[in-house]
Amino acid sequence: MIIRNRYENSERMMKWLFHVSVIFVCFLQYSMGIAESVETENRMNAQRLWEYMTTEKPYQQYSYWPGKDGFYKSSMPAANIQKLYLNNLALDTVVNKKGVFPHGSLLIKEMYTDDKKLNLITVMYKEKGFNPSGNDWYWVKYKPDGEAPLEGNVEHCIECHEGTKGNDYVFTGIIK
Ligand code: HEC
Repeated sequence: MIIRNRYENSERMMKWLFHVSVIFVCFLQYSMGIAESVETENRMNAQRLWEYMTTEKPYQQYSYWPGKDGFYKSSMPAANIQKLYLNNLALDTVVNKKGVFPHGSLLIKEMYTDDKKLNLITVMYKEKGFNPSGNDWYWVKYKPDGEAPLEGNVEHCIECHEGTKGNDYVFTGIIK
């Protein structure tokens, strides 16, 4: 009788542990998503995104794109030097070849002059519901002081990146 009770108890315990860990894992994923999404009052805009990526979660503390540590040369004809940062959501997508970046993904490319002065920052941020036909990417071109001459559904950016639509609009590496 006692043995049976013990068995039942441990079975119940295992079930309980299982449920708790499922809830915990779900919560972790949820909180990771929330923590990495930029909260906005209304719509996304370049100023809000700038504040997020320079003050709330300074992007210089993010990872570099795997295999592109620090300065490297662009593959574009101008071949300027640059750095490419990405947040954890985007990193997970690249490393685990998930095929498509989740909402909240943030890619930040710094472009430098030949004498390594920061010149331009181009950003792709995936904002839920922003532009489903363009995979919800919010495009921004910033000057080093945070001024954004281009932002949102920027045709100039999309026209060129469109060629890699099957790779969720990114060039630097295959993500699937
Ligand atoms: C003429 C083509 C072209 C235009 C226009 C262009 N890009 Fe790109 N972009 C590229 C190429 C090619 C790469 C990868 C090679 C490199 O980084 O030099 C790239 C890389 C990037 C990356 C790193 C992720 C990736 O795709 O590999 C970001 C972020 C980015 N571009 C943002 C932008 C934004 C924002 C704009 C508009 C302001 C823009 N790009 C305009 C061609 C372009």
